[in-house]
Amino acid sequence: MPFPIDRGRRLRRNDTIRRMVRETKLSIDDFIYPLFVCEGEGVKNEVPSMPGVYQMSIDNIVHECLVLTGLGVPAVILFGIPDHKDPQGSEAYNDNGIIQRAIRAIKKEVPQMYVVTDVCMCEYTDHGHCGIIHDNDVNNDETLKYLGLEALSHAKAGADMVAPSDMMDGRVAVIRDTLDVEGYTDIPVMSYAVKYCSAFYGPFRDAADSAPSFGDRRTYQMDPANRQEAIREAATDVEEGADLLMVKPALPYLDIIRELKDNFDKPIAAYNVSGEYSMLKAAAEKGWLDHDKVVMESLLSMKRAGADLILTYYAKDAARLLG
Ligand code: PBG
Repeated sequence: MPFPIDRGRRLRRNDTIRRMVRETKLSIDDFIYPLFVCEGEGVKNEVPSMPGVYQMSIDNIVHECLVLTGLGVPAVILFGIPDHKDPQGSEAYNDNGIIQRAIRAIKKEVPQMYVVTDVCMCEYTDHGHCGIIHDNDVNNDETLKYLGLEALSHAKAGADMVAPSDMMDGRVAVIRDTLDVEGYTDIPVMSYAVKYCSAFYGPFRDAADSAPSFGDRRTYQMDPANRQEAIREAATDVEEGADLLMVKPALPYLDIIRELKDNFDKPIAAYNVSGEYSMLKAAAEKGWLDHDKVVMESLLSMKRAGADLILTYYAKDAARLLG
């Protein structure tokens, strides 16, 4: 029914009616806040390319979890910055590693905080790649057992959920099997199912000290040009036992979030990555964008695209703005 019968503006006339017909709502319940854990005590180093984001020692991480709980943020995802790195990334699956100690400390002091862990080798290997290197490339099948061990040691320390981000083929099956054999059948796997090889991870690699020392991640992370492949990747992970599917990055890949939402009956998570955070912060610092408004509009777009959960460095800002 065209104009003048149909007038879209009738339902936009005031805030009450706009509120009533609003299709998408953000909720603090959907946010997972990333934290970078480093060694030491009393450490709180701001990441230069990510204003407001810090590398923190375990005592400060615990304090941060208390603050987050107070704001209503239900979950964190932990990334480790170990003092010691080697070719096998042995700190990743050391039961006394930085992440394992952080999990135990959070669970002791802030038991209600839901703790997700990133399962990957890149923060722990001296070469910065996401697995074991053979002939200048990451060897898929040899890496799998280390990822299984890493996930298991996180679960043993008390993690509520594990999230593999390495992009090795078959890793969800191996992690599921390793957890089940040891009795951790109730720990869900949130797969970074669709993870693109993105330049938007740049600031994270400063934060996590995980840039590859040679080459790049194109032999394991996805080509940004591909949509069909995203469906294949997600389908494989569902078959292997993934409980939730993640798309990463979020903003440049909203079409992929929608694709997964329409094709799979699993909760979909979007990772609003470091570069997406930094670009808004930088523009806002220059006075070029209204910070609070662009943050909320960006997060809303992920929800509208079909994300059930959002991993974001903006969780605290969003909690304040929603509060
Ligand atoms: C580890 C990992 C990365 C991110 C999350 N897990 C970096 C990468 O793949 O290089 C990026 C997160 C962000 O940019 O915020 N593999």
